Formats: sequence, structure tokens, C-alpha cells
Amino acid sequence: MKTVVIGGTGLVGSEVVKLLGQGHDVITVGRTSGDMQADIEDKASVEALFDKIGAVDAIISVAGDGVFGGFDEEGDHAYERALQSKVMGQVNLTRVGHKYLNKGGSITLTSGAVAQHPMPNTAAIAIATAGVDAFVRTVALELDDDKRINSVSLSLVKESAKKFGMDSTHCVPAAKVAEYYRDVLGSSESGQVVLVQN
Ligand SMILES: NC(=O)c1ccc[n+]([C@@H]2O[C@H](COP(=O)([O-])OP(=O)(O)OC[C@H]3O[C@@H](n4cnc5c(N)ncnc54)[C@H](OP(=O)(O)O)[C@@H]3O)[C@@H](O)[C@H]2O)c1
Repeated sequence: MKTVVIGGTGLVGSEVVKLLGQGHDVITVGRTSGDMQADIEDKASVEALFDKIGAVDAIISVAGDGVFGGFDEEGDHAYERALQSKVMGQVNLTRVGHKYLNKGGSITLTSGAVAQHPMPNTAAIAIATAGVDAFVRTVALELDDDKRINSVSLSLVKESAKKFGMDSTHCVPAAKVAEYYRDVLGSSESGQVVLVQN
């Protein structure tokens, strides 16, 4: 199975890549890291990427920036970053990537639990991740050739909580989060938002 993992060098993405292992011919992509480089915020860059890669069986996105802060504290920057990166980056990836997806192929995007479970200081991330989930549900109705699209909705990962000096007691480690991506890929579902359970 030829599988492209955007963000495959990141905290969560590298665990996804480790888990997929055998049975997958994995290509990792980052802006500056990975087997190949592309910036999903730039549609032309995504087009150039798939032009080189060709047809694939699965696309997994574990990429996208978010800025924490009060809804009117961080200024326009927080909103622009989240919308440009999480939403438009993954929209670009899907709009280009689906054309290269083999029959029965799968796209898995990343969203965030704050879309469902409000948390202070995450307004920009919340609207962006809710947008990703709405996009996934809608696109699933339009894809043909048995192609599928889903999102994995993450809350704070244990390693990140520790890094930021936050309480990590109920957080899920990246290796466990990765299992959700593997399971979504292996399922026959489409249009689903799969919440990582704490
Ligand atoms: N960690 C958490 O606690 C947590 C919680 C909720 C949601 N999330 C979301 O889950 C995703 C992964 O998180 P993470 O902690 O694993 O992130 P991470 O360690 O910072 O890794 C991000 C990965 O994505 C790549 N990337 C970032 N922007 C890109 C772009 N525009 N085009 C192509 N590749 C890009 C990076 O590659 P380069 O460095 O080469 O650019 C890197 O491989 C992010 O969207 C994050 O917001 C994370």
C-alpha cells in the first residue's frame, strides 16, 4: 500500500509511520523534513509533490499549526495561522490528493477535540478544527470510486503536555494516538470524525 504521510516526521506522525511499517510503502513529507518536501499551505507545492509521487493508496495528514491564546488576545495572527494551516492546508491536500488516489483509497486528516469540547484559549484552533471536521463530512458525500475521507480528532498529546509543563495525567501518548490513524485507515468508514479518547 503506497501511503503518503504529511507530517510523518512530527511527534504524532513519526509514531503513525512506525506503526504502519510492513505492508505500507510509506513516503514521509514535511516542509523541510521527510523523504520529500512540500508545504500544504501552498497548493502549487502540493501539486508538484503529487506530480512526482504519482498514484497512491492512502494520504494521511498529521500536520497543521495552531496558536493558543485568548479569543481577542493573539490578534489576527492566531486566526490566520489556524485557518491557513489546519483548514486550507488540509483542504489543498485533499483537493489535489484525491485525484491521485487509487480506487478504494483513503484520506485521513487531523482535527482537534476542542471543536467538540470547548476549552479556554483555543478559539482559533476550535473553529479551524471544526472546519476540518465539516469538510471531511461533506467531501465524504462527494468522493467516488469507493474513496474515503475521515479525520482523527486529537486532544493534547502526553509528550506535548509534558513539554509545556502541563498536567499530562489524562493525556494519551503519541504512540497510542497513532493507533487511531492506523485503525481509521484499516476501516471501511468514511465521513467519520474519530475522537481520541482520554
Ligand atoms: N501534539 C499535540 O498535543 C496535539 C494536540 C492536538 C492537535 N495536534 C495537531 O496534530 C498535528 C500533529 O501534531 P504534532 O505535535 O505531531 O506536530 P509536530 O511534532 O510539530 O510535527 C508537525 C509535522 O508536520 C509537518 N508540517 C507542519 N506544517 C506543514 C506544512 N504546512 N506542510 C507540510 N508539512 C508540514 C512538520 O514537518 P516540518 O517540520 O518539516 O515542516 C512535521 O513533520 C498538528 O496539526 C497539531 O496541531 C497536536
